[in-house]
Amino acid sequence: MSLVIGNSSFVIRPRPLGPSAALFLAVVILTGCGDAGGARVLNRKAAEIIATTTQPADTVWLDDCELSSVDDRSGSPGKSKCFVGKPIILAGQTYPRGVGVHAPSEIIIDLDGAATRFQAVVSIDDEVGKLGSAVFSVWVDDRDAAHTAILRGGGPPREISVDLTNAKRLWLVVDDGGDGIDKDYADWAMARIEMKPGATTKPRISRIVDPAPPAIVMMKPGDHLTGVPEIHPPFVVGATPGRPFLFRVPATGAGPMRFTADRLPAGLKIDANSGIISGTLKERGRTDVTIAAQGSLGRSSSTLTIIGVEHRLAQTPPMGWNSWNAWGTSVDEAKVKAAAAAFESSGLAALGYAYVNIDDAWEGSRDAQGRIRTNDKFPDMRALAGHLHRMGLKLGIYSSPGPKTCAEFEGSKDHELDDARTYAEWGIDLLKYDWCSYGKISNDLPRAELRKPYELMRAALDVCGRDIVYSICQYGRGKVWEWGAEVGGNYWRTTGDIIDTWACMSVIGFAEHAHAEFSRPGHWNDPDMLVVGRVGWGPTLHATRLTPNEQVTHITLWSLLAAPMLIGCDLSQLDDLTFSLLGNADVLAINQDALGRQAARVARTGTLLYGPKADVTEIWSRPLEDGSIAVGLFNRGAGEATVTARWPDLGIRGKHNVRNLWLKQELAPADGSFTTKIPRHGAVLIRLTPAPK
Ligand code: GAL
Repeated sequence: MSLVIGNSSFVIRPRPLGPSAALFLAVVILTGCGDAGGARVLNRKAAEIIATTTQPADTVWLDDCELSSVDDRSGSPGKSKCFVGKPIILAGQTYPRGVGVHAPSEIIIDLDGAATRFQAVVSIDDEVGKLGSAVFSVWVDDRDAAHTAILRGGGPPREISVDLTNAKRLWLVVDDGGDGIDKDYADWAMARIEMKPGATTKPRISRIVDPAPPAIVMMKPGDHLTGVPEIHPPFVVGATPGRPFLFRVPATGAGPMRFTADRLPAGLKIDANSGIISGTLKERGRTDVTIAAQGSLGRSSSTLTIIGVEHRLAQTPPMGWNSWNAWGTSVDEAKVKAAAAAFESSGLAALGYAYVNIDDAWEGSRDAQGRIRTNDKFPDMRALAGHLHRMGLKLGIYSSPGPKTCAEFEGSKDHELDDARTYAEWGIDLLKYDWCSYGKISNDLPRAELRKPYELMRAALDVCGRDIVYSICQYGRGKVWEWGAEVGGNYWRTTGDIIDTWACMSVIGFAEHAHAEFSRPGHWNDPDMLVVGRVGWGPTLHATRLTPNEQVTHITLWSLLAAPMLIGCDLSQLDDLTFSLLGNADVLAINQDALGRQAARVARTGTLLYGPKADVTEIWSRPLEDGSIAVGLFNRGAGEATVTARWPDLGIRGKHNVRNLWLKQELAPADGSFTTKIPRHGAVLIRLTPAPK
């Protein structure tokens, strides 16, 4: 297909498009490459005048509005500051007022017809030098009232002036400029709304809510601990012979439960009451073990494959909890124990969640021998690990290859071996190793330099005598997905930190398309921890800012992506929606599928991702071990959409049985395509199985 815009002609490839390329195309289609509507280039003198002019009394400044529900990549726009908290400076001119966001960003403002004009000066903040690029657009109700060309760091800003007479809603949108969102610090300098004289209402920052609850089966914590027994994945686990082995068979159903395991490899035993398999593998090799769980309402059995070979940990993506998105540096032993207790009482442990990971802020000082000690919040790490192990759970910990962690605690630099040994002594099962203070903060270190600290800790873990899952965290530098497995990482973060906004979660999640080929059993892409439930990154928590449908998209994507399922909320305050999202066994089975193939995007329609005319829909799929395929249908648009998954895109033919996994329902068999309606920012997840002829 070819498209003519203005004087330029573009050839559009139907697919596949990288996220940036697709977005760039959207931007081009929207803007025709240049400034339009109420946007014009601002010269130096005019900028100076705008920056120093006082406004009449009927003006409402954007930075005076409550901004906590603004949807942007950072999660916390700057008030009269750029988003990193420094003054707003565009092309050398400092502006005393305005709002600094990180693209992508969407600020929706309800006006009730009481405003007359919106004005602002926009561009990329000088903080990032010549880096960063973005397109700003202003929508009045459904009308594209002004948009800029692609603005780049250091280039001339644009003045925006838009008539708001009778307008009900104003949308301030910043999109990436086609080269990814890195360094897209975008400022709405001097942004202000003039009101009608004597207007009785004020502009209000608005959030679009779901018109109806999402189409998912709702459950309550504990629901899984009734009913007939069911054994859940993982159905394949790897461990090193000669090292301590621990695996709790995930099984739901009414107790008391009794477990048996036939043909367990030498050195392992199963506890009949808890289903915990422990011991030490005596020999290398692969064994298929028949596991049975007998509950008060029936019996279930399945095959568990145990691979006793070096470097075969995390055969399926780790499932568990991490303290950071909930508690930040306020994590302590009581909170960790509370998470473990909630895993047990809610039934999430019975569904396969096993890791309880302490993130940053457990570290104390080193003793005279250089041995790391815990701080006061963790009186006895070894006892804590023992507590979790008795529950069949595992304990994760965190450090940095630098001298300091990101929260300024003691890092592992020059103590790699000491620390690996200490972790092994304590009984640690997972290490998240976070770049932080290692070297200069730079994106362009040679790959060898980026690998070095991770290779060093890998070597230390190899000789520590314990199986410790290795989580690499360096925010995706140097295309870590291309070499994360080579340095022995079991999973690697592909992005900066996640925040509980749609702009952030969706950008991170959908960008995984580009990394799909690098993910495989034992080595997974990590788009960061989950942001459903009550999160807060500190002592005070709030309910996730994602709408329920956005949360469905989040968990659907992470399941399809074979991403580590690391819950980031306070588990002791699990509401029904959060539990239903985290505890759907059909959905988790996709994440834990033993084939271990990450989903990729197979089709995409629409051009705009943000604003009232956003219309992008996507189809993602992954093949599963039993020959069926999982298909995610996503609506990234502003309103309800009808979305179709077509067999040629999915690489299948003929009649297929269709199961809606969130609804746990068999639908009518389909042949050729499957079509469904999806609400704004929502998703539908189906499993297609070839129908018998
Ligand atoms: C960040 C990391 C977060 C968290 C934090 C702790 O660099 O991305 O996930 O671990 O450090 O300080």
